[in-house]
Amino acid sequence: MEKYAIILAAGRGKRMNSVIPKQFLSLYKKPLWYYSVKTFLDTLNPIHIIIPTLSENMTEIQRGIKKYFSTSYPKIHIIEGGEMRFHSVKNALTHIPTNAKSIVFIHDSARCLIQSQLLKNLYTTAQKYQSAIPIIGVTDSIRQLDNNKYKYIDRKKIFSVQTPQVFQSDILLESFKTDFENHFTDDASVVEYAGYQLHFVQGDISNIKITYPVDIEIAKWYLKNTQL
Ligand code: CTP
Ligand code: MG
Repeated sequence: MEKYAIILAAGRGKRMNSVIPKQFLSLYKKPLWYYSVKTFLDTLNPIHIIIPTLSENMTEIQRGIKKYFSTSYPKIHIIEGGEMRFHSVKNALTHIPTNAKSIVFIHDSARCLIQSQLLKNLYTTAQKYQSAIPIIGVTDSIRQLDNNKYKYIDRKKIFSVQTPQVFQSDILLESFKTDFENHFTDDASVVEYAGYQLHFVQGDISNIKITYPVDIEIAKWYLKNTQL
């Protein structure tokens, strides 16, 4: 089966409070988006990569791809993203063939610390079970707002969902024929809504989503100590 990775880079990064969207912030002289593209290529090549981004940033990514990934360049497509994450994914899915089953990874470029081992586990699992969704337990105590009261919740029953979320293309393409619903916060929720069963696997605590300025410092430390 052919492999595809949709690496989402069309957000505006409001919580980062920076003028340029967070996926373009520089970490060791390379843009943040570079790191997940690199790990996907190093681990899963041959793989087709589709990068939805903001229209004003398409040339910048195109240039970066040429500069950093010259040999694999023909397999990387830069496309325009959409208003919400859901729409960015939906646009990217128009580039996945409908006539042959493939494996599709959908990843937040903001998760630049993604490790090869997790990619491999997800790939094997999705081939076997149609989907592979990485989750991790939470470390904070959890409260739920209910009738103006913060009620206790057993944190052993709560999980954070990461990316990449991996699917066989037939169920993914079928599921995304729907229109947007507010509860579609990730791809797994769209596929589940379409009636398919999800298969969950252990994620990785280092696979954080760069969201706030402090996360950039964590990512720098991590890259310096593990990858550079
Ligand atoms: N994303 C996207 N298209 C959108 C919104 C988000 O491709 N319309 C991407 C982001 O670029 C990011 C990933 O989805 O890599 C996860 O989203 P999030 O971390 O929420 O990023 P932003 O929406 O950019 O940040 P914020 O919510 O703080 O504005
Ligand atoms: Mg967002």
